[in-house]
Amino acid sequence: MNGILISLEGPDGAGKTTVLKEILPEIKKMKRDIISTREPGGVRLAEEIRQLILDPKNTEIDSKTEMLLFAAARRLHMQEKMLPALKAGKVVIVDRFIDSSVAYQGYGRELGVEVVDWLNNFATDGLEPDLTLYFDIDTDVALDRIMSNRADEVNRLDLERAEMHRKVRQGYLKMVEKEPQRYVTIDASQSVEKVVSDTIEAIKERFASIF
Ligand SMILES: Nc1ncnc2c1ncn2[C@@H]1O[C@H](COP(=O)(O)OP(=O)(O)O)[C@@H](O)[C@H]1O
Ligand SMILES: [Mg+2]
Repeated sequence: MNGILISLEGPDGAGKTTVLKEILPEIKKMKRDIISTREPGGVRLAEEIRQLILDPKNTEIDSKTEMLLFAAARRLHMQEKMLPALKAGKVVIVDRFIDSSVAYQGYGRELGVEVVDWLNNFATDGLEPDLTLYFDIDTDVALDRIMSNRADEVNRLDLERAEMHRKVRQGYLKMVEKEPQRYVTIDASQSVEKVVSDTIEAIKERFASIF
C-alpha cells in the first residue's frame, strides 16, 4: 500500500473536526491527492450505523453492542473508502479511528484494552495509521466547549460526560506513552489558529519528502 494514513484522535471537544476543516485547504496546496473522512461513518451504511449509535432514543445499546457497531462501521468504511484511496497512493486523513474505540470502549466503558484491540484488529485486518495526531485537552475545558457550543444538539454519548471523559483522556495518554513513535501530541487548548499551525507543522515534519 503506497498511501499514507493519518488519524486525528482526542476527546470530544478537543477541536479535531474544526482543525481538519482548516488544515485541508492548506495541505491540499502542498499535495493534491488527499481525502478526508470520519468515523463512525464515511460511507452510506457506516453513516447509518453512526445514526444508530448516536441516537438518544437507543438506550438498549449496551457497551458491548456499541463496540460491535463501531467495529462494523469501521470495517465498512475501511473497505469501501479508505483502502481504495490508500492503494491509489493517496493521503487519507481520518477524524477518529481505532484509538477512539480503545479510548472510549476500552478505557471509558472499561471493556478492557485487550478485547477492544483484538476486535479492531479483526475488523481492520491490522491496518494501522502511519501517524496519529493526538489532540490533548483538559477534560473540563473540553466539556465547557461542548456545553457552550452544542447545547441544542446533545447526543447520547455527550450525556455520559464528566467521569467517562476523564477516563477517555487517561486512556489516550496511556496509548501515547505505550507507542510514542506513532503519535504527535498537539496542545489542543490553544487558539484555533495555533492548533492549526502546529498540526500542519507536525504533518510536514513527519512526511518531509511529501509535503
Ligand atoms: N482551539 C479552540 N479554542 C476554542 N474553541 C474551540 C477550539 N477548537 C474548537 N473549538 C470549539 O469547540 C467545539 C468542539 O470542536 P470540534 O472541532 O467539534 O471538536 P471535536 O471534533 O474534537 O469533538 C466547537 O464548537 C468548536 O468551535
Ligand atoms: Mg468531531
